[in-house]
Amino acid sequence: MLPGLVLAALLVPCTADFPPPSVNVSLDDPPEVRWAPLLKAFDINYLKTAAAEVIDTTVPKWVHNAIAPVAAALEKYVPQPYGGEIRGMATQFGASISDIIILNFAYEISAFCTSIVAQDSNGTLYHGRNLDYPHDVLRNLTVDLIFVKNGEVLYRGTSFAGYVGLWTGQSPKKFTISGDQRGKEQWWEWWKNLVSAFLLRRSPVSWLVRETLEGAEDFQEAVMRLSKIPIITGVYYIVAGVRAGEGAVITRDRNGPADIWPLDPLNGGWYLVETNFDHWLPPPAWDHRRDTANKALNATGQAHINVDTLYKVLSLFPVCNGITVYTTTMSAVAPEKYNTLIRPEGCPRIE
Ligand SMILES: *[C@@H]1O[C@H](CO)[C@@H](O)[C@H](O)[C@H]1NC(C)=O
Ligand SMILES: *[C@@H]1O[C@H](CO)[C@@H](O)[C@H](O)[C@H]1NC(C)=O
Ligand SMILES: *[C@@H]1O[C@H](CO)[C@@H](O)[C@H](O)[C@H]1NC(C)=O
Ligand SMILES: *[C@@H]1O[C@H](CO)[C@@H](O)[C@H](O)[C@H]1NC(C)=O
Repeated sequence: MLPGLVLAALLVPCTADFPPPSVNVSLDDPPEVRWAPLLKAFDINYLKTAAAEVIDTTVPKWVHNAIAPVAAALEKYVPQPYGGEIRGMATQFGASISDIIILNFAYEISAFCTSIVAQDSNGTLYHGRNLDYPHDVLRNLTVDLIFVKNGEVLYRGTSFAGYVGLWTGQSPKKFTISGDQRGKEQWWEWWKNLVSAFLLRRSPVSWLVRETLEGAEDFQEAVMRLSKIPIITGVYYIVAGVRAGEGAVITRDRNGPADIWPLDPLNGGWYLVETNFDHWLPPPAWDHRRDTANKALNATGQAHINVDTLYKVLSLFPVCNGITVYTTTMSAVAPEKYNTLIRPEGCPRIE
């Protein structure tokens, strides 16, 4: 009995979820200096080691060496504000510009995720997401970013230190967005994407999330922008607004929408679950995330959905799994509820 108790005592602190550091990024500062506050929240040496590890496990070494000069040459094609932000980070981190560019594109591949939009019986919208990524170090690089303009929070999101795009974010009182990877990219595709981003002026998928948070006035406009603006690769954009019925999963091709799947609360469709497969097709037999989330939402019921019950759904195995880095729950109508927790050991299977 005693060993069991001791074990439990040891396990509890290790498996507890914890919030990431929060950093203000002032959009009133020039792009070159606005990311400097990251260095107050993160150890510079850890950042360097972690960034090198992400690059090494994503891009083969010889490819890294081969593309470094090209990435450096592409620098002048990187649009603002990203060009200035990347240059500034390279200076602040003491890293090469090509490595910060490669790092930013390393995150554009191999992210597995689950996103859920749900509407309660009163018409309030909730949005949650798990971000899954097979790099342990990302748990230590996760950061909540608050983008401030004229002393006010313009939008916020959750990201990784060193990355200028957003996969998760909220425009307060307007809408929330998450992105889930669509299809599996190989590094040679990825490299083509990097070049097309700059030379063909297609947006990386996470930059479009950030620009939409920054510029769109409401849910309708956010859906329009996320559907139409050319991007470098397919993706799922999940969006929730502030009024009843404002929820959608946009399945994206590079040039436009392949499908827009709206909430349909009047006909019982009070939630949408998107993982990494087109919603009109069955997921592969080995992937039970969609089915597990659907069952758990049915069991929760529309009258009981809120940020806390949504978090519980996102905590169930295999929706949450060994490579889940963080979970965010949010509701644009109540922006103060935005909450991200890091899953330190992934999510251990609970039978
Ligand atoms: C994350 O940071 C903690 C505390 O600094 C450290 O003990 C741990 O090894 C780090 N994890 C990884 C994967 O680097
Ligand atoms: C971040 O900005 C917000 C809004 O201006 C402010 O309330 C908050 O105190 C700032 N936090 C830090 C750590 O500077
Ligand atoms: C959830 O409930 C809906 C509506 O009753 C039903 O059509 C669907 O099959 C259920 N899904 C699961 C996975 O139980
Ligand atoms: C709906 O609103 C009523 C009245 O404000 C409140 O009592 C109830 O808890 C709300 N239900 C949900 C599901 O939020």
